[in-house]
Amino acid sequence: MRKAIIFLGPPGAGKGTQAVKVSEFFGVPYISTGDILRTAVKEKTLLGIKANEYMSKGELVPDDVVIGIIEDRLNRDDCMNGCILDGFPRTEAQAMSLERMLNAKNMDTVVLFIDVSDNEVIRRNSKRRVCSKCGRIYHLETSPPPKDGICECGGTLYQRDDDKEDVIRERLRVYREKTAPLIDYYTRRNQLLRIDGSGLPEEVYSGIISALKKIDKA
Ligand code: AP5
Repeated sequence: MRKAIIFLGPPGAGKGTQAVKVSEFFGVPYISTGDILRTAVKEKTLLGIKANEYMSKGELVPDDVVIGIIEDRLNRDDCMNGCILDGFPRTEAQAMSLERMLNAKNMDTVVLFIDVSDNEVIRRNSKRRVCSKCGRIYHLETSPPPKDGICECGGTLYQRDDDKEDVIRERLRVYREKTAPLIDYYTRRNQLLRIDGSGLPEEVYSGIISALKKIDKA
């Protein structure tokens, strides 16, 4: 495949959970702007210090910063045969820049819109835990870790700073205002597949794989 598969959807819809599996399925890199920015915050780089001003409040990091990050990442050799994008693009300006980058690489775009209700988003975010060592995502109820606070790899689990309820609500508001319009943007370009994200993780994954197989046959 020579495709960029983009995961679009509200915060906590399950984009990361599914995107990692889809990247393993196709053997192409998984690229998450959220993960790249969180690593920079943890390492206290200049980028991290700047990004944290926005992330801690649930706001978007400025377009020029994230567009630059993605441009550098897509230019690496491992993206030659495609990639999985999680959390980018999030604004129309980001979508237009990405279109330009992918056209230059002669790469197709498929957008998977993971559709989940607001109540479910809050439930999923507030009980999320992430491994500080390997990045694996758990949920205290639906996919609990094997041992309290400890990942399968032995790493310690933590709760993201932006997973507090008031920040989750702000992330949802920002999503509706700035990112949800991309659903129309990609529908107009005939590049959007709507995936029901309300089921169990395995059910959502099957829905994604069968939707992707259908477009490959079409
Ligand atoms: P980012 O890290 O991208 O966060 P997000 O889009 O808000 O998405 P999440 O990572 O919160 O959720 P997800 O959909 O991946 O769900 P997950 O699989 O973890 O961005 C963070 C911040 O960085 C932004 O707010 C912004 O400040 C900045 N940023 C990033 N990209 C940017 C950009 N392009 N432009 C500007 N700023 C940017 O699942 C959530 C939970 O639900 C987990 O506990 C999981 O186990 C559970 N779960 C998953 N699937 C299911 C299921 N089917 N059933 C039950 N539980 C499930």
